Amino acid sequence: MFFKSLFGFLGMAVSINTFAQTKDDSVGQWLNTEESIATTRLFANISALDTRPGIVVASPQRVNPNYYFYWVRDAALTMNTVLLLYKNATDPIMKSKYKTSLFDYANLSEENQNTPTLKGLGEPKFNVDGSAYNDPWARPQNDSPALRAITLIGFANQLLDEGDRIDYVGAKLYQAEMPPNTIIKRDLEYVAHNWQDLSYDLWEEVLGTHFYTRMVQRRAMVLGAALALRLGDVGAARFYSAQAQDILADLERHYQNWSGLLVETIDAAWDTHRPSGMDSAVILGVNHSNFENDLYSSSSDRVLGSLHQMTERFSSIYSINQRSNLPGVAIGRYPEDIYSGTQANYGNPWVLSTMAFAENLYKAADSFSRHGKIIVTPLNAALFNSAIQRTNFVQRFRSGMTLIAGDEAFDNLLQGLALEADSFVLRVKTHANSDGSLSEQMDRYSGFMTSAADLTWNYASILTAADARRKFLAKAPKFKTLQHSKQKNQKSN
Ligand code: NOJ
Ligand code: NOJ
Repeated sequence: MFFKSLFGFLGMAVSINTFAQTKDDSVGQWLNTEESIATTRLFANISALDTRPGIVVASPQRVNPNYYFYWVRDAALTMNTVLLLYKNATDPIMKSKYKTSLFDYANLSEENQNTPTLKGLGEPKFNVDGSAYNDPWARPQNDSPALRAITLIGFANQLLDEGDRIDYVGAKLYQAEMPPNTIIKRDLEYVAHNWQDLSYDLWEEVLGTHFYTRMVQRRAMVLGAALALRLGDVGAARFYSAQAQDILADLERHYQNWSGLLVETIDAAWDTHRPSGMDSAVILGVNHSNFENDLYSSSSDRVLGSLHQMTERFSSIYSINQRSNLPGVAIGRYPEDIYSGTQANYGNPWVLSTMAFAENLYKAADSFSRHGKIIVTPLNAALFNSAIQRTNFVQRFRSGMTLIAGDEAFDNLLQGLALEADSFVLRVKTHANSDGSLSEQMDRYSGFMTSAADLTWNYASILTAADARRKFLAKAPKFKTLQHSKQKNQKSN
């Protein structure tokens, strides 16, 4: 009798534990629901009734702040996730909806390029009827044509892979002819000839040389070279590759040796009063360019070290990050930011920056798991030592150690990194509106959603982070479920 009940008790304890391990993927569950909300709300901002087909509004909000415009950057990033949805879709009705919106976007892009604007292809923003926006603005923003090229190259390659509408690819998207008269070629030529120029950053504030901009310019050149080669434009392929090499070499200037940080802006045209040198744009640049195995890939120690230093910094400056009962850390654009959407009084954490940190860490974990090896360096050790504390495994990582797939330390570190990534998602979940909608910012004191409602780019950032998480989990089956039961906060003062 005694034994029986003891056995029963143990049996129950074990089954509770197994149950928790297989069922408790709260982040995965939230992301699944949020992805479908994000998809619906993202599409509500594309080709809306009072806009031209292909127009992506940054947000439906028209006052305080008025984001009812077409930003080339926001649109390119959004349409790149529509391409992702298209590739992943199985339902033919959804597939054709996605494809139509990609064609609308390509056609609108051609119209934008042919519309006279104040800064030509570096023009950041258009009205929702597709006409030029000629009021004062921070221009040019040279990440924009690079991002547009990246998205449309992806679309062109997809059409070529499917053997569908090859006529359209040749007539509209890419043709060797010079001066360029196709959409992708125009942007590639612009990037190839102007990447050295100073331009405004993605936050539309500083004239200078920006890591984010350079990263996406380099990506456009690399992908452009491959497409040119695919279509027999050999000379252009060589030229674009050479630009990519030069950009890569020049990126070294963004690495600050004494601090270990990748710095967003150098060569600034004025004093920016940003002593921290930190900016989440660096992580966005890594995510949006997806390089593998180099100094600027998601798993590089420069990137992970910067991410960790920024996490610590942001956790100390926003009061919502000091509440020990909340998971993860809310991340802002940069520590000195004062733009709250309506006024310049105090800056807040941003949804898309916080999601970008999650996405980067999923990609890093995925990359480590594919390569089967992690080298601990002075730059990444602090992040690893903090991530491992999210698991039950006790380990102190020291510079010089090499971890190999199959080692307990390796497997646990991957798990820790994925849990660290999850903590950023949980933070966004904490502050999301109850209907799952997401505004640009989270108030740094109250945590409430603030500034532009239903920011399109936020929804794109949900979809890309969720995709990165899924890819990691699919290849690392051990981590199919991630346990958050002993969730630790990053710093609670
Ligand atoms: C300043 C903000 O920092 C920038 O991001 C924004 O686009 C412009 N103001 C216009 O609202
Ligand atoms: C302000 C942000 O700083 C910028 O990156 C974005 O393109 C616009 N808002 C529109 O969302």
